[in-house]
Amino acid sequence: MIRLGVIGYGGRIHGIIDHVLRRLDPGVRVVGVVDPDEAGTRKRLAEGDRQEAVFYKSVAELVRRAKPDALAIGTRCNLHTPYAIQVARYDLPLFLEKPVAVTMKQAADLEKAFSKSRCQVVVSFPLRVSPLCELARRYLQEGAIGNPVHVAAVNYVPYGTVYWEAPYRDYQITRGLFLQKATHDFDYLAYLMGTPIARIAATATRGHVFGGKKKAGLVCSRCGEQETCLESPQNRRRNQSGGTCSDHPCVYSVDCGEGHQLNEDCSSTLLEFASGAHGVYTQVFYSRRDAASRGATLSGYAGTLSFDWYTNELKRVRHHAPFSAVERAGEGASHFGGDLELGEDFLGVVKGTRASRTPIQAGIQSVYACLAAKESAEKGRFVKVRQVGQA
Ligand SMILES: NC(=O)c1ccc[n+]([C@@H]2O[C@H](COP(=O)([O-])OP(=O)(O)OC[C@H]3O[C@@H](n4cnc5c(N)ncnc54)[C@H](O)[C@@H]3O)[C@@H](O)[C@H]2O)c1
Repeated sequence: MIRLGVIGYGGRIHGIIDHVLRRLDPGVRVVGVVDPDEAGTRKRLAEGDRQEAVFYKSVAELVRRAKPDALAIGTRCNLHTPYAIQVARYDLPLFLEKPVAVTMKQAADLEKAFSKSRCQVVVSFPLRVSPLCELARRYLQEGAIGNPVHVAAVNYVPYGTVYWEAPYRDYQITRGLFLQKATHDFDYLAYLMGTPIARIAATATRGHVFGGKKKAGLVCSRCGEQETCLESPQNRRRNQSGGTCSDHPCVYSVDCGEGHQLNEDCSSTLLEFASGAHGVYTQVFYSRRDAASRGATLSGYAGTLSFDWYTNELKRVRHHAPFSAVERAGEGASHFGGDLELGEDFLGVVKGTRASRTPIQAGIQSVYACLAAKESAEKGRFVKVRQVGQA
């Protein structure tokens, strides 16, 4: 049996506990929770957990009284750092949602708190540990492209409306879509290139698609444009264009924010790596249906390797021999199989049989890259990426 304490028992962490951890080890039990929304949490909890889980007011009380074997933080983004800093005091494995911080102060404080901590962290970066990414990494290490010189990565997000109709649109919580989304991509790109991102130039386009002047608090059921609006539940259903098909907040409302505090419709980066290689990463949030694409093309003098998580395909081209290969990965697992891998890592850390492949330093390094991208897009110039361990 593994006694788990959960801080912020929301939708994402519930999915990880119920569909990932318990699938791997049915003995996982939620014994303590810190979450101000006790009623909502109780509804989400699995039957067995509902009986057993005790609600506590603080992390200290949860640790002292519930005596968990491990902790998980599943709050929204702005609370990851303050809670993780509290958890760093204990010698308990931690599953931590991303982004691990949303400001430079938070990231620096987090780095300091963990510099002396024995708490081992599995940061929730499913892409890095997904089987497709690990396969790409293996081929790269075997010399499939020689020295990586260039990378071009894309992320055409087919479910992007959540960033204007769900709490993700609250800038104080998410601080923009580099931190929210690119944190995964910067992480796996540095991992595959085998070298950290050193400098970033970025730009963002906002207010061309989502956001706008519709009144505060507007939801579809109270809007006169349901018949014509492509984002109304009935039109999404009719057009099979994705997104929630129940009543939802207006994606064109002043509530979405304005200026730099409005999530970007799309944003792009020019990345310079410490090795001297460079690349581009671009993310687009109004894509729908078959436009979905996420992956990268890495190249060097010896070859080109490309993969896409949506087609689940990896292609290797030898530049100097008449051979190319395409491989397809299995389908159906959440986050392209990455969530199961994260679950294996976390349970392995708890049982002392595995080390985390996504330690706290990876989470913090990715936040430093996201913050550089954000600053660059705001200031219109290259920004140096702070490196973990080099204040
Ligand atoms: N790794 C991934 O691929 C992935 C995927 C989806 C979401 N996420 C991340 O997961 C996080 C949670 O997202 P979600 O959709 O589950 O959100 P959610 O709103 O469903 O869950 C947040 C939970 O935190 C609780 N909470 C609020 N204030 C709190 C406080 N002061 N102390 C403790 N708990 C508090 C809420 O009551 C809620 O239960 C986000 O940061 C998001 O970026 C990551």
